[in-house]
Amino acid sequence: MIETLPEPTAIEQAHSEKLASLIVEEINQAESIPFSRYMEMALYQPGLGYYVAGATKFGATGDFITAPEISPLFGMCIANQAAEVIKEFGSIASILEVGAGSGVLAVAILKQLDELGCLPKNYFILELSPELKLRQKNLLEEKVPELGGRVSWLDTLDDFSMEGMVVANEVLDAMPVSCFEIHEGEIYERYVVFEDRLVWQPKLADTKLAKQVEGLSISSPTSCYQSELNANLQPWFTSLANVLQSGVVLLVDYGYQQQEYYHPERTKGTLLAHYRHHAVEDPFVYPGLMDITANVDFTAVAAAAVEAGFEVSGYTTQAYFLLGAGIDKLFLQCVGDNEQKQMEFSQQLKRLTLPSEMGERFKVLGINRHFDHSFSAFNFKDLTYKL
Ligand SMILES: C[S@@+](CC[C@H](N)C(=O)[O-])C[C@H]1O[C@@H](n2cnc3c(N)ncnc32)[C@H](O)[C@@H]1O
Repeated sequence: MIETLPEPTAIEQAHSEKLASLIVEEINQAESIPFSRYMEMALYQPGLGYYVAGATKFGATGDFITAPEISPLFGMCIANQAAEVIKEFGSIASILEVGAGSGVLAVAILKQLDELGCLPKNYFILELSPELKLRQKNLLEEKVPELGGRVSWLDTLDDFSMEGMVVANEVLDAMPVSCFEIHEGEIYERYVVFEDRLVWQPKLADTKLAKQVEGLSISSPTSCYQSELNANLQPWFTSLANVLQSGVVLLVDYGYQQQEYYHPERTKGTLLAHYRHHAVEDPFVYPGLMDITANVDFTAVAAAAVEAGFEVSGYTTQAYFLLGAGIDKLFLQCVGDNEQKQMEFSQQLKRLTLPSEMGERFKVLGINRHFDHSFSAFNFKDLTYKL
């Protein structure tokens, strides 16, 4: 696999080796570390992890491309939903974006809300990465200087509260997961050890993980079934419930309902790394230079949210959500009779909505607290019954 990947520069290579030695040091102290810890270090180790250091990450020259990077139409649709929330709350409504990437979604949302005459009181961004925070500030200053005063950054959700809307695009898939395997009826957690290089090592799962895996009711016909789960959903939603006094959370990501996620034939799980638009199965190749992700189990996400005090507002595919939010009208509004724009925007529309592109693989889950309103984007085709 590694031979077919583009070669990192000497600086990148040195960066990755520095992070790898830190990981190996931690392994040496404990003999092994759970994969979730490896993923946490690979993505978020201060100064070195993929999301907190300087890799380009998003867009054509990065490692992957997200919906708001593909088209402003995505953010405009989210803004249309935000407008429905803001109108209910009036002047006290704010927006919180979690993990705002390059800042391009914030720009599209704010522009469209300005156009609708429905700006939020504040636009907060929770960002773990100092490098991304700087990029977001620069982009907002360049694209919407007149709205910059409404935007502020949070490092943590502690002691913060708001009413309005929270949005998180492709955040859940970037959270560390616990990897497990079921082997002849026994449940193992997959650890990471160092044997000249980083490799997997299964160990009998502790009671907590074993219980979580048993709850998934996996009935695999094969002798070794591997997959993963996000064991931190519960505390995450609890902290979000403490923050959002009333309002709605929109979570957009690629993933499945539980039955589909843990399908008997999906015997290798969904863990995958991305390096310059190459999918890499081995997550240990270039720590710190590659994104590492797992698909989202939306049934588990909805259950954790409900347990934390939220209610489900709706669940649907990205294509249905965008259609429900009026992407067709927004498209016409953006292109007018400009032929060049018509071509550009139809390409973008296709990528966002076609089932063979992002339309079906990506889902949108809406959850709310003390905010019992239906949303036009979920009314189009609500698939909550599938969760
Ligand atoms: C794949 S990127 C998506 C970026 C952006 N939302 C977009 O769509 O282009 C994942 C982002 O989620 C952030 N993230 C992951 N876990 C997080 C958490 N627990 N709290 C805040 N941000 C988180 C990462 O730092 C990163 O910025």
